[in-house]
Amino acid sequence: MKKEMKFYLSSTLFKKKLKLTLFVFLFVTFGLFAKLTFSSEKRVISGYNFAEPSTQKIQDDDFINPGIFWVEQGKSLWIKKNIINDMSCSTCHGKIENMRGVSTQYPKILESTKKLINLEQRINLCRKKLDMKEFQEESKDLLSLSTAISNQSRGLELNYKVTEKNKKWYDLGKKLYYKKIGLMGLSCNQCHDDRVGLSLRAEKISQGQINGFPSYLLRWSKVVSVHKRIQFCNEQARAVPYKINSDEYNALQFYLSLRGNGLEVESPAVRK
Ligand code: HEC
Ligand code: HEC
Repeated sequence: MKKEMKFYLSSTLFKKKLKLTLFVFLFVTFGLFAKLTFSSEKRVISGYNFAEPSTQKIQDDDFINPGIFWVEQGKSLWIKKNIINDMSCSTCHGKIENMRGVSTQYPKILESTKKLINLEQRINLCRKKLDMKEFQEESKDLLSLSTAISNQSRGLELNYKVTEKNKKWYDLGKKLYYKKIGLMGLSCNQCHDDRVGLSLRAEKISQGQINGFPSYLLRWSKVVSVHKRIQFCNEQARAVPYKINSDEYNALQFYLSLRGNGLEVESPAVRK
């Protein structure tokens, strides 16, 4: 009897141990599995990796990357003196190289209005300081300056942060990213998260990252802003786009910037 009891006890103990081991085993493997899936899902990938090799080659070589013309143009505008007061951007800011790291802080909250502004809007605010007319949105001059400034940050990692001040804008951007819009009822994530790597009209869908902007688009033979690119996505999804420099697009751009944390600045990237 005693012996049987002992056996019974030790066998239940064994079963318990087995259960525990199995539980731990499953827990660990499942966790590992989930982590692997999760991290591969969450890994940020530049649009560069989805571009055709021929397009990548154009971006890689500064001698053939047409976006570099914008950079050169921007550099000469940087030092171009205003006839009225004999001042240029460099009068206050020094060499354009001093702008390294600046583009990775935009869109940024403007203290006086508590609103987000993008780099192009910042440049236009400084044009006013120079007593000069603002550049037209999406104009060659404006994008040349913003490309030249962004180019100074080439290779720097995006490292945006949500703070008390910008949280409201982050939330709005996120909401817009997941909002189903237009005749087709499509949200950004349905293409740029759910369909990454799949083809859409002879194009591979990327994560919709913005580390290459301002970017040179081969289809239009020109450099475009983030807002212009988003407008194009809206139009293709048969949705009414917001205006360039709108609060909505700045919020969306801010959300996209955070979503791309860890990617390196590539401006001017080249895309189809
Ligand atoms: C009269 C001096 C002055 C001139 C000229 C000027 N800026 Fe500025 N700029 C400033 C000041 C001051 C700031 C800091 C922001 C503020 O408080 O307004 C600034 C900020 C900036 C920033 C943002 C820097 C940051 O760290 O956020 C950029 C980009 C910029 N200027 C670009 C330009 C460009 C491009 C030109 C030429 C078209 C120019 N600036 C001409 C004074 C000037
Ligand atoms: C119907 C699918 C679709 C939807 C919806 C869509 N896009 Fe796109 N988007 C594309 C395609 C296709 C491209 C070009 C290939 C690529 O770079 O992904 C693109 C490109 C981009 C790029 C440029 C990426 C790069 O590396 O140059 C950005 C940024 C972008 N989209 C943002 C958005 C945002 C923000 C939304 C929501 C407002 C959106 N897209 C909605 C299909 C879509």
